[in-house]
Amino acid sequence: MSDKKQVSRRQFLNYSLTGVGGFMAAGMLAPMVRFAIDPVLKPSAAGKFKAVAEESELTNEPKRFTWKINQKDGWYESEVEKSAWVYKNENGEIVALSPICTHLGCTVDWGSNEEYPNEFYCPCHGGRYKKNGVNIPNTPPTAPLPLYEHKVEEGMLYLGQAKSRGSGV
Ligand code: FES
Repeated sequence: MSDKKQVSRRQFLNYSLTGVGGFMAAGMLAPMVRFAIDPVLKPSAAGKFKAVAEESELTNEPKRFTWKINQKDGWYESEVEKSAWVYKNENGEIVALSPICTHLGCTVDWGSNEEYPNEFYCPCHGGRYKKNGVNIPNTPPTAPLPLYEHKVEEGMLYLGQAKSRGSGV
C-alpha cells in the first residue's frame, strides 16, 4: 500500500478556489490599504517653501506675487500657479495672505474698490477684508484670509503652506 496521501477531486477544487479567492481579495484590499495610509507615506509638505520675491521688493503696500508648484494628484502631475498678497506691517513683520476669498473662493484684490481703498475686496459678492486679512463684519466672508508660512533666507522671501486662521468675526 502506498503512503502517498491522495487528494480528492473535491479537496483539490476547494484548495484551488480558496487560493484564487484569497489572491483576488488581496488584490482588492492592497489599493485600499495603500489609500488609507497614503498621507503617512508622503513626504511632509511642511518643508516645501518656494522662493517668491526678494525681501527688498516688499513695502507697506500689499503686492501680489505669483509662483508655480508641481502638483501630483494620483497619477496626474501638473504645474499650478499660486499667489499671495504680501506686505510689511507697521512693525516690519512680513504678512503673506492667500488671495482666495473664504466665502466661495473668488480671488480678492487690494484697493480695487474706490469706496474701500485700503481693503481687500472680493468682486464676486462684495466681500471685504482689512489689510491684515481679517474679514469685515456684515460682508459675505465669515473667516479671515489664510496666512502663508514664510521665511527669509539670504534676502529671499520663501512661502510655504497657506494656513487657515479659523472662523473670523
Ligand atoms: S466669493 Fe468672495 S464674497 Fe463671495
